[in-house]
Amino acid sequence: MKLIAFGVREDERPYFKEWVSQKENLELKLVPELISDETIDQIKGFDGIVSLQTTPYKREYFEKMKAAGIKVLSIRNIGIDNIDLEAAKDNQIPITNVPAYSPSAIAEFTITQLMQLIRHTKQFNEKMQRQDFRWEPNISTQINQMTIGVMGTGRIGRAVIKLLQGLGATVIAYDPYENAELKAEKIYVNSVDELYAKSDAITLHMPATKDDYHLFNSETFKKMKDGVLIINTARGTLIDSKALITALDSGKVGGAALDTYEHELPIFNHNLAGKKINDEVFNNLYKRDNVLITPHIAFYTTEAVKNMVNVALDCAYTYLTTGKQNNPVVKID
Ligand code: NAD
Ligand code: COI
Repeated sequence: MKLIAFGVREDERPYFKEWVSQKENLELKLVPELISDETIDQIKGFDGIVSLQTTPYKREYFEKMKAAGIKVLSIRNIGIDNIDLEAAKDNQIPITNVPAYSPSAIAEFTITQLMQLIRHTKQFNEKMQRQDFRWEPNISTQINQMTIGVMGTGRIGRAVIKLLQGLGATVIAYDPYENAELKAEKIYVNSVDELYAKSDAITLHMPATKDDYHLFNSETFKKMKDGVLIINTARGTLIDSKALITALDSGKVGGAALDTYEHELPIFNHNLAGKKINDEVFNNLYKRDNVLITPHIAFYTTEAVKNMVNVALDCAYTYLTTGKQNNPVVKID
C-alpha cells in the first residue's frame, strides 16, 4: 500500500513515523506542501491521500485523483467547506475526516478568548508596554454574571457549554438539530432571535454552509444586545467582516475574538513579518484593542494533532484494506 500525505508539518512528523513503523508493506511519503496546482501531480502511483489544508480541493484535483487511481482521500481535520464534494462524488473518490480529534482543544481556546475579551488583556498589555499600570477604565465583568449564547451544539459547542457551566455562566443555545440531553436541561431558546436578544456574548460552533454565509451581518447585529461580545472559532465566512467593523464602531459589538476570518488564506499560518498586508478589512480589525485575532489555532494542541494524524491514517488504511469507510464525508457505493 502506498500513501501520500500533504501539508505535513514538523510537529506532525513523529506521529506519522510512529504510525508507519507499526505497519508492514506500507510506503508513506510525507510532503510539506499542500495540495495545489503545483503539487497535485505527485499523487501518481499512490493508493490514498492523507491531507490537511484550508485551501480549496478543486474539481480538477478530483479528476486527477481518479486518473491516478487514488482510492481514498482522508483529511486530517473536521471542516469540509473547502472541498468540492460534488466533484469528489462525480470522480468516485471517497472522503473521510476526523470529526472529533479533540473538541476540548477548541472549547478551551474559546474560553481563553472569552476571558481575554472580558478581562481586557489586549488593552492592559498595550498600556503596560508604555509603563502605564493604571486600572481605569478597563474594569471587567465576570463570566458568572454573563449570559452566553452558544450557536451550534455539536461536539465543540457541547464541550464549550460544559466549561461555561463550570464557570457559572448562564448558558443558552441554539441549534436547528437539538441535542436531547441539552434539551432536558432547558438550555435551548425558542428562536435564534431570542439568543441574539439575551446574550452578553455569542460563540459560534457550526459549520460554514451556503445558507449561513454572512449569518452575522448588519441586520443580525441589530438584533443583539448593545456591547455584545462575539467569538468565532468556527469559520470566517459566518461573519460579514465589514458589517462587524461598523458594529464595532457604533459600540453595538463590544469586542470580538476571531480565530477564523473570511479571507484568512493568504494571511494565517504565513510569516508576514515586515510585509504589508493588502487587506484593509483585516488591518482595520487587527489594530483594534477590543478585537483579538488569532491565526486559526484553536485546534493546535499536541493531543489534537496526534489524533488528527493517527485517525486520518487509520481511516485511509482501513478503507484500503477492508473497504470499510470510517468517518465518511463522501461515500461511494
Ligand atoms: P459538529 O458537526 O459536531 O456540530 C455542528 C453543529 O452546528 C451541529 O449540531 C449542527 O446542527 C449545528 N448547526 C448547523 N447550522 C446551524 C445554525 N445555523 N445555527 C446553529 N447551529 C447550527 O461540528 P463541530 O466539530 O462542533 O465543529 C464546529 C465548527 O468548528 C465547524 O465550523 C468546524 O469547522 C470548526 N472548527 C474550527 C477549528 C479551529 O481550529 N478554529 C477546529 C475544529 C473545528
Ligand atoms: C478543522 O479541523 O476543521 C479546523 O478548522 C482545523 C484546521 C487545521 C483546518
